[in-house]
Amino acid sequence: MPAPTLRLRGFDIHKQYLDPAAQKALIDALRPVLKAAPLFSPTTRFGKQMSVRMTSAGKYGWYSDARGYRYESHHPNGQPWPAIPDPVLAIWHDVTGHDRTPDCCLINYYGDGARMGMHQDRDEADFTWPVLSVSLGDDGLFRIGNEERGGKTESIWLESGDVVLMGGAARLIHHGVDRIRAGSSRLLPKGGRINLTCRVVD
Ligand code: SIN
Ligand code: MN
Repeated sequence: MPAPTLRLRGFDIHKQYLDPAAQKALIDALRPVLKAAPLFSPTTRFGKQMSVRMTSAGKYGWYSDARGYRYESHHPNGQPWPAIPDPVLAIWHDVTGHDRTPDCCLINYYGDGARMGMHQDRDEADFTWPVLSVSLGDDGLFRIGNEERGGKTESIWLESGDVVLMGGAARLIHHGVDRIRAGSSRLLPKGGRINLTCRVVD
């Protein structure tokens, strides 16, 4: 039986939405994407290299450098981003209930020691569309704050197979990943954590 959905600060957390076979199938579907669009380490506009490595699938990919955060239509290697794999789209349609497909599936890879600071996802044109997150591999300590910067926060360990819907009144809530529990999952042959976030950009 699927685990119940938790609601934390307006985010819907579907624990164990994907069973181990579905997680494995998703990794298999991501493999050609990662081959065509290899992970890279973006820098912030302050010139600091991010500890998370990333790439994207879809019409747009998220990108950051000295010019700031934005979506780009091509990978830094000059190629268009690969298509979003069907199993990712199936999760999006099932959990969001929307027929419109997302424009971007950002693929974040957290190796040992990688983290993501508190931020809002606000590079998209229309915040009425939700952002959907899928966690695979090692556990990640996910922190949820407030729409304003600062204030009290709450944290939850996201495990492989968990899906989080960030939408509605919670769409602009600050969130981040404090740390990874290295070795907690055997899904990825080299360890680490993958997080997918699907976004409607235009
Ligand atoms: C993100 O906010 O883009 C990623 C969240 C996560 O890794 O769980
Ligand atoms: Mn985010």
